[in-house]
Amino acid sequence: MKSFKAMYLDEKNGQLNFGLKTINLDDLSQGDILIKVAYSSLNYKDMLAVQPKGGVIRSYPMIPGIDLAGTVVSSESDDFTLGQEVLVTGYELGMSHTGGFSEYARVPKEWVMPLPEGVSLKDVMVYGTAGLTAILSILALEKAGLSENKEARLLVTGASGGVGSIALALLKARGYQNVTALIRKDYQEDMVRALGADRVIRPEAIFIKEKPLLLKEQYDFILDTVGGDVVGHLIPQLAYGGAISLCGNAAGISLNTTVLPFILRGISLLGIDSVQISQEKRLEAWKELAKHREVLAILKTDQIDLEVIPSVLDKLKKGQHLGRTLVAITEN
Ligand SMILES: NC(=O)c1ccc[n+]([C@@H]2O[C@H](COP(=O)([O-])OP(=O)(O)OC[C@H]3O[C@@H](n4cnc5c(N)ncnc54)[C@H](OP(=O)(O)O)[C@@H]3O)[C@@H](O)[C@H]2O)c1
Repeated sequence: MKSFKAMYLDEKNGQLNFGLKTINLDDLSQGDILIKVAYSSLNYKDMLAVQPKGGVIRSYPMIPGIDLAGTVVSSESDDFTLGQEVLVTGYELGMSHTGGFSEYARVPKEWVMPLPEGVSLKDVMVYGTAGLTAILSILALEKAGLSENKEARLLVTGASGGVGSIALALLKARGYQNVTALIRKDYQEDMVRALGADRVIRPEAIFIKEKPLLLKEQYDFILDTVGGDVVGHLIPQLAYGGAISLCGNAAGISLNTTVLPFILRGISLLGIDSVQISQEKRLEAWKELAKHREVLAILKTDQIDLEVIPSVLDKLKKGQHLGRTLVAITEN
C-alpha cells in the first residue's frame, strides 16, 4: 500500500493537534510484523494520551491507540504467517511506538498474540485492554480466595466504565451472586443492573466522614478500578481475610490508609498490570475471556470510525462515557 489513514497526534508550541492524516509506512515505528488493523478500542489511557501533559505519550508526533486487532500482511518472524489474525495490547503501543488508531501498524514480534480460539477480531477489541484488565483482576481475586465462595460480598468500583462494566458481566458469568456496583450517576444504574449488579451504591455509602481505622466489615472482596480516596475508604471496610485488587487511578494516585486492616484482618492488596504482563499470563487471561462469549453480547458497546475518536475521548474525559467503544478501522 502506498498510503493509508491514521489518527495523528502532533505538538507545536505546547499545543496538541489530533486528527486524521494520510501517511505511509515510513511514518510507522519499526518492528518485525506489519498488521492491517481491523479494529481498535478506546481506553482511559487513550484519553490521557491526547491531553497536554497527559503522561502517556513519550515523544511527538505519535499515533495513539493502545489496542489493535488485525491481519498480518508482512512478517519477518517464523512465528507469524501472512493472513494470520492477531492482536496487540499494551507494551509501548500508542505511547512511544505508533499505535492502533491507524489502518496499518508495525510492531515487534514479542508483542503480537495469535487470536485466541473461539473469538473474532471484533470480539477481542470489544474486550480490549479493559477486558484483559477486568479478567486479570478477577483471576487475582479468585486466587486470593474468591473462587471458594460464590456468595461472597463483592464490590466493583467504577462500574460504569470499561474495566468495571466488563468485570460486572464476567463476575456474573462466573457464577458470583452477591455483586455490588459503585456508580456516581442515575443514568448508569440500568446498565450496571443489566450487566449483573445485584445491588447498586453511590459514593455516599462508602465515604464515612470521620474515617475510623477499622469500619464494619461490608465486603469480602473488592475489584477497584478508580483508586484514590475511594480505596482509602474501602480498605477499612474489607472483611477478615478479604482482598482488594487495584488497577486504576481515575479518582487519584494517592492512597491514604493504615496498616491496621492488614495486620488485624489479614486482608490483601493485589496490584494489577495489563501492560507488561508476560505473554504466557496474557494468553491464559485471553483464554478465560474467550470462554465467556455470552458476555460480549450484553456489554454496552458503541462502534465508531477513526475520525470520531477525538469526540468520544472528550466524553471519556468529562465522565460522560458509558461502557465500551469499538473503533472499526478496515472492517465494518
Ligand atoms: N493497570 C492496568 O493495566 C490498567 C488497564 C486498563 C485500565 N486501567 C485503569 O483503570 C481505570 C479505569 O479504566 P477504564 O478504561 O474503565 O476507564 P473509563 O471507562 O473511563 O471508566 C472510569 C470509571 O471510573 C469512574 N470514576 C472516575 N472518577 C471517579 C471518582 N472520583 N470516584 C468514583 N468513580 C470514579 C467513572 O465514573 P463516572 O462515569 O461517574 O465518571 C467510570 O466508571 C483507569 O484509571 C485506567 O487508567 C489500568
